Amino acid sequence: NTLAPYVDPLPLPERAVSQAMRPDPDAPSRSVPYYRIAMEEIHVKVHRDLPPTRLWGFNGVSPGPLIETRSNQGLLVEWNNHLPLKHFLPIDYTLHGSGRDVPEVRSVIHLHGGRTPPTSDGYPEEWYITGKSATCHYPCRQDATMLFYHDHSMGTNRLNVYAGLQGLFLIRDAAEDALHLPSGKYELPLIIYDRYLRQDGQLHYPVSPVPGKPWVPEVFGNLVMVNGKVMPYHEVEPRKYRLRILNGSNGRFYRLTFGENMQFHVIGSDQGLLRAPVPLARIELSPGERADLILDFSQCAGQNIELTSDSLRIMQFRVSKASASDANEIPKLLRRIDRIPASATVRTRRLTLDEHLNLADQSMDMMLNNTPWHAPITEKPILNTTEIWEIINLTEDTHPIHLHLVRFQLLDRRRIDSAAYLDDKSLVFMGDTVLPATHESGWKDTIQVPPGTMTRIVVPFHGYAGRYVWHCHVLEHEDNEMMRPYEIVPS
Ligand code: C2O
Ligand code: CU
Repeated sequence: NTLAPYVDPLPLPERAVSQAMRPDPDAPSRSVPYYRIAMEEIHVKVHRDLPPTRLWGFNGVSPGPLIETRSNQGLLVEWNNHLPLKHFLPIDYTLHGSGRDVPEVRSVIHLHGGRTPPTSDGYPEEWYITGKSATCHYPCRQDATMLFYHDHSMGTNRLNVYAGLQGLFLIRDAAEDALHLPSGKYELPLIIYDRYLRQDGQLHYPVSPVPGKPWVPEVFGNLVMVNGKVMPYHEVEPRKYRLRILNGSNGRFYRLTFGENMQFHVIGSDQGLLRAPVPLARIELSPGERADLILDFSQCAGQNIELTSDSLRIMQFRVSKASASDANEIPKLLRRIDRIPASATVRTRRLTLDEHLNLADQSMDMMLNNTPWHAPITEKPILNTTEIWEIINLTEDTHPIHLHLVRFQLLDRRRIDSAAYLDDKSLVFMGDTVLPATHESGWKDTIQVPPGTMTRIVVPFHGYAGRYVWHCHVLEHEDNEMMRPYEIVPS
């Protein structure tokens, strides 16, 4: 494409405003904010030189408005489906749950990373059609971090998110306040996602050449958008900033660098602050992963700093010349994180990531543990127990694996002989155990599982009993059987 980079200012996400206070479902004597949010079709200019693009957004914007709350405060959101009756992206009627027997536009919103009761979690089959709504309760009994909400409808999740149905959600707490991190205009929530935009400014979603089966295993856009604009710029002062970054792409991974490998400090990951800041010059984020960074522009007065991923342009920071006062120091310690010892676990499950080429029509079958979505539930952890999940990736790609409800820690990764495992399930290690890098050793909810490895996570199943899901966060995979229900059973 030939669109000029860095001609539109970065939009800062609008704050959602609650319409009312309503009784807290957990403690009816107090009240919690109540938000009414509508999913609707919108037409917005995403770049100076393009006509308005048709998108699906929330309350008139895509990404949706930023919802902000505090730990344990709780809130209610009434999600209203006001979308059109016809989809504008290519539905694949052969995917499970996406047949001609169901309305083609259906939606259900999930709060990714939220410790949410099962009835409010956005189970993929509990979608609602245009004209209907669902009210969800988010108690947020969890540490400060950045979550995001997005569509999770069975079989059309990839299309609905690509159309624009996602937005950010911030949880604050006292432990974070006490660190005096850059805040207000010095804290920038950034949702980064690639899209394929045609010359006429409209979204293009690629289709496969297989007749009647438009599903494709991966989608890579020709442009990167941040907070709703293509390659925007942002004016900053020569001081420290806190960047809250989400990879909101369907399938693209980013290796983020600032300028000429400027150093930054990673202070948090998916589920909140790390133990201590980690200096890095590059960070890789798979779809669904978040990073919380401190970037110091004080040595860059008067310069333009590009955020790129390999050679892909993402956005530009224009650092002003005026010297700025900066009272924010990078704390030496952020919070206490106790590593969970293996002795605290009650069970180890071995689960595979699988891919089979279907020779009949050249389509790809992807699965978790070789089990399709609709098969009976096989993973039933007991509430308030801790398990180790050994995830063995027998495919040729890295898959970002996400579990709803819980937070977990990465134990380690180890290369294995996939051929031997495929042969007779024998586990032959091909390398040493690799411990998590420091920036990956906090609390996570989405973990990269590289090909030909066994990636082990340790998961405390805290929160609520009930039915949830786990899946690959490459949305094309998730829509095509790389998702399974799991159930937490009461102790
Ligand atoms: Cu970000 Cu099951 O989702
Ligand atoms: Cu995947």
